[in-house]
Amino acid sequence: MSQKSYKIAVIPGDGTGPEVVREAVKVVRAAGAKHGFALALTEYDLGAARYLRTGEILPNSVLQELRSFDAILLGAIGHPDITPGLLEKGILLQMRFDLDLYINLRPVKLFPGVECPLKDKGPEHIDYVVVRENTGDVYTGAGGVMMKGTPHEVAMQTAMYTRHQVDRCLRYAFEYTRRRNKRKTLALCGKTNVLTYMYEMWERAFHEMGDRDYKDIRREYYHVDAICMWMIKNPESFDVIVTGNMFGDIITDLAAITQGGLGIAAGGNINPEGVSMFEPMGGSAPKYAGKNVINPLAAICAGGMMLDTLGETAAARAIEDAVMWATANKVRNLAAGQMGHSTTEVGDLVATKVAG
Ligand code: IPM
Ligand code: MN
Repeated sequence: MSQKSYKIAVIPGDGTGPEVVREAVKVVRAAGAKHGFALALTEYDLGAARYLRTGEILPNSVLQELRSFDAILLGAIGHPDITPGLLEKGILLQMRFDLDLYINLRPVKLFPGVECPLKDKGPEHIDYVVVRENTGDVYTGAGGVMMKGTPHEVAMQTAMYTRHQVDRCLRYAFEYTRRRNKRKTLALCGKTNVLTYMYEMWERAFHEMGDRDYKDIRREYYHVDAICMWMIKNPESFDVIVTGNMFGDIITDLAAITQGGLGIAAGGNINPEGVSMFEPMGGSAPKYAGKNVINPLAAICAGGMMLDTLGETAAARAIEDAVMWATANKVRNLAAGQMGHSTTEVGDLVATKVAG
């Protein structure tokens, strides 16, 4: 019998991206060896180096090739010599639109041993998931500027959603809540008191779908400003939160710091019907590049999420357990240079635990 094998596109990217991706690959391979699957990796050199060398950001041919993989693992994009936003828009946002990665999945889980900035909150209080819509809202780029440079200059940037975008995101969130099977509670985060067209449509769609297909899932609604307070005060009340693209961008950074920040937070850009991309939330951290001091745990968690999405749930669970063991027992602090271990040592520790 031939062994199961997944085709993975790896985009190490800029700064510390290659260092953290190397450790993620190490751990994912260890999980594969233990749980009976192989990984066929293909590297793509997207990011600052390629742009500075050739002027290319995300060539169409690469985009086409990416569609043929089972998943994509990305390190980090961004370089101090390049206008902020150019590569992020040209690579990250472009992939979201062209590969229709319409879900941004962000688990928010405080691991044991990780310092939490919230008073009196521990791992038993912080364990929820944000489902952020990832293609619509102000991110579509609709808008324009008129009379630029004059005192009468007008700038517009339009938030928009189609019912189709909203429905497919809600569908994913309801299904995810059911599968997660924790508190069976899905909270919609919106702003129905001001965005009376857009989030009114979200809310209506939310209740229609819930009434029709998800009677087993409890529904809650929060305005985005209020949810920011509750995420700090009572994070234990959340199970799954679903929201639009812009609010999702903001609340997931707030959530990330409650779980220990960029050294640990990972996310998935998911097309449930196609290829999905997984990444650590942190940036390219150029000042730490090449020093073997950056924390690879977020990238390792992204690798675990990738396996979960591929259906390798036991392997994914083993990776999360090993990371929790590492934060509880081995890694002193999540910050670069303060782990008490090098980047490669942390990868080795987790890989060995996963293999054991
Ligand atoms: C994120 C990032 C991106 C976003 C940027 C880099 C365009 O902040 O993935 O959350 O705004 O979505
Ligand atoms: Mn963001």
